[in-house]
Amino acid sequence: MLGISYTGAKPVLVDIDPDTYNIDLEKIEAAITPKTKAIMPVHLYGRPVEMGKVIALAEKYNLKIIEDAAQAHGAVYRGRKVGSFGIMGCFSFYPGKNLGAYGDAGAIVTSNKDLYEKLKMLRNYGSPKKYYHDFIGYNSRLDTLQAAVLGVKLRYLDEWNRLRRRNAELYNEKLADAPDLVLPDIPKDGTHVFHLYVVRTEKRDQLLNYLKEAGIQCVIHYPVPIYSLGAYKWLGYSPQQFPVTEEFSRQILSLPMYPELTEEQIERIADLIKKFHKDKVTSEI
Ligand SMILES: Cc1ncc(COP(=O)(O)O)c(C=O)c1O
Repeated sequence: MLGISYTGAKPVLVDIDPDTYNIDLEKIEAAITPKTKAIMPVHLYGRPVEMGKVIALAEKYNLKIIEDAAQAHGAVYRGRKVGSFGIMGCFSFYPGKNLGAYGDAGAIVTSNKDLYEKLKMLRNYGSPKKYYHDFIGYNSRLDTLQAAVLGVKLRYLDEWNRLRRRNAELYNEKLADAPDLVLPDIPKDGTHVFHLYVVRTEKRDQLLNYLKEAGIQCVIHYPVPIYSLGAYKWLGYSPQQFPVTEEFSRQILSLPMYPELTEEQIERIADLIKKFHKDKVTSEI
């Protein structure tokens, strides 16, 4: 992704919504200050943020919207693709993403002509023309080889997203009766593209190890909240200010999710999760 230069601006963080795991829309307004320039919603795990409310706030306070659609290529909110709501939409093509290159890559989309020109220069050392540099930029050009790979893979994106959604529905169906497990909600007013299929359980670490021993690799996205990362300690937040994020970061577990996952594999994982509860949890009671 093309980086935006650090300007000394201090980001204000907002806790997540316990139902969607995206930014809590009810908490944005209180976080807006006279210095606020933009709202940056992240379509986390591939679930589109309810953009209607974000747009209303942006209009009310004259703010820009910058979408982080790194996990949500092809996701739709009320008939419109994510990444197209704000002044810019940022996509990552890291290999593991729904649309992944064969190495690092990314893109920003915008309908704003000035921004488009500026971004094209920024990615190329601030250069509008070979050997002329109007300002200091970066080397963030998209490698041609990666572009060729992405051009081919793009044709399959909708189908791969459809398969991810089918897999999420199968998981939800097969895990519906699993005790002590919160399953992801599938939104009605948008198309979730399930970059990740994330469940929650109080016994997260035990379940993670149990599945690992059975040969099922699961990951935690993400174990350390942004405000606790070394890089953002200077923001001065305390975990108590983000009760939902704090609690969920100890409970979340991403189960295997990719288009080619078969129903049999999903069934095996679901059976193991239920067996875990029977073997480990019930024996502790
Ligand atoms: C939500 C989100 N935003 C931003 C990024 C950064 O993307 P990149 O690593 O391509 O710069 C990622 C990638 O992991 C992501 O998942």
